[in-house]
Amino acid sequence: MSSFEFTVPGELGDPAVRAAEVAEPGAVTIVVPTFNESANIGELLHRITESVPSRLPCEVLFVDDSTDDTPEVIAEAAQDCPFPVTVIHREEAVGGLGGAVVEGIKAATSDWIVVMDGDCQHPPSLVPELVATGERAGAGLVVASRYIKGGSRAGLAGNYRVAVSRCATWLTKSLFPRRLHGISDPMSGFFAIRRSAVTAEILQPLGYKILLELAVRSRPRQVTEVPFVFQDRYAGESKSTAQEGLRFLRHLVGLRAASPAARMIGFGLIGATGFLPNLLGLYGLTAAGLHYVPAEIIANQLGVAWNFLLIEHLLFRDRRRHRNWWDRAGRFALLANLDLVLRLPLIALFVDRLGMGALPATALALVTTFVLRFVGTEALVYLPRRGHQGAPVRESETARRAA
Ligand code: GDD
Ligand code: MN
Repeated sequence: MSSFEFTVPGELGDPAVRAAEVAEPGAVTIVVPTFNESANIGELLHRITESVPSRLPCEVLFVDDSTDDTPEVIAEAAQDCPFPVTVIHREEAVGGLGGAVVEGIKAATSDWIVVMDGDCQHPPSLVPELVATGERAGAGLVVASRYIKGGSRAGLAGNYRVAVSRCATWLTKSLFPRRLHGISDPMSGFFAIRRSAVTAEILQPLGYKILLELAVRSRPRQVTEVPFVFQDRYAGESKSTAQEGLRFLRHLVGLRAASPAARMIGFGLIGATGFLPNLLGLYGLTAAGLHYVPAEIIANQLGVAWNFLLIEHLLFRDRRRHRNWWDRAGRFALLANLDLVLRLPLIALFVDRLGMGALPATALALVTTFVLRFVGTEALVYLPRRGHQGAPVRESETARRAA
């Protein structure tokens, strides 16, 4: 009774057809992201066959970005499987591993979705237990954790990777103490999630840490954990690279900057670092013999450019598409310079009209123009324009956050 389906994104948006395949309530869709894993597919499907269908109705959905013959190998191996197997092959690996998982979550129709790696590092025998635990606890998310009693990271190769993983976990948990409360292993790539607990539309996955994305952006009400032993890779090598590490850091910053308060702090910190290029510029230009007034003006533009680049890449990364680069840069520069022009009259106003001393007046003016500049940057540079067709998914997210 095996059935195999091969689709490309867009084709598969027919939930009625797919739902009929795994009709049983409480059934699970096992979502497996794959990138060149042909040597692991047979073993993985074999292990799933041995341990899942007898305990829980299941289907397996591969979301594949491979450049090798993984999809063909899956098609072949699916012949022997007593459950439906589907491959979504993506021509463009948008969002990497995390993007693939979200694609799978959107396509899945059963009550539960279990996400697991395609290299047998995650034991399929745990799939029914993850779901059963979730059902019992009334949880929306069940994390398979290496860091609770009974779990271990046996298969994490080398001290270096163990140390990196530890540090990353610590950093992440410190950045999101509330959201990740009760999740000892936010880096895990093995978890079960209740269909009704995810709003896939608000997810903006970036690379490997899809559980983190889910936990922070659409945290299900109830979360539990089940211990597991991270196995050795069956075949092939990890696809994780140093570049993936950088992507992870960007992902962290992006998640942290999702709240307006955190964005304002980031905005202020970045603004403070702008003094550096500003002063260096001033030093260089006056040393080169330029009068200090034009030197001040030019040096200030260096600070503005520095701030703009950092803000674009760290704070408003996902909101850039509403205007083109020149439009954003122009508006940003205008606001930054307006800030300078506004400051003196504001100080004069505070001193003359409110009778403040020069120092508090200056401090108040600095804070006022800072807040104005932040609000202005949000509203005039990065807010989606009415009726402007950016990416609809992200736009709704922006609206949600702004609300
Ligand atoms: N579709 C798709 N696209 N799949 C990908 C991509 C991609 O760009 N990159 C990796 N994968 C697939 C791999 O083929 C594999 O099935 C799974 O994602 C995990 O990739 P690995 O390269 O084996 O990851 P890892 O073992 O280094 O890391 C795993 O363990 C970490 C915990 O230490 C992952 O589960 C991480 O998410 C987890 O944090
Ligand atoms: Mn792996």
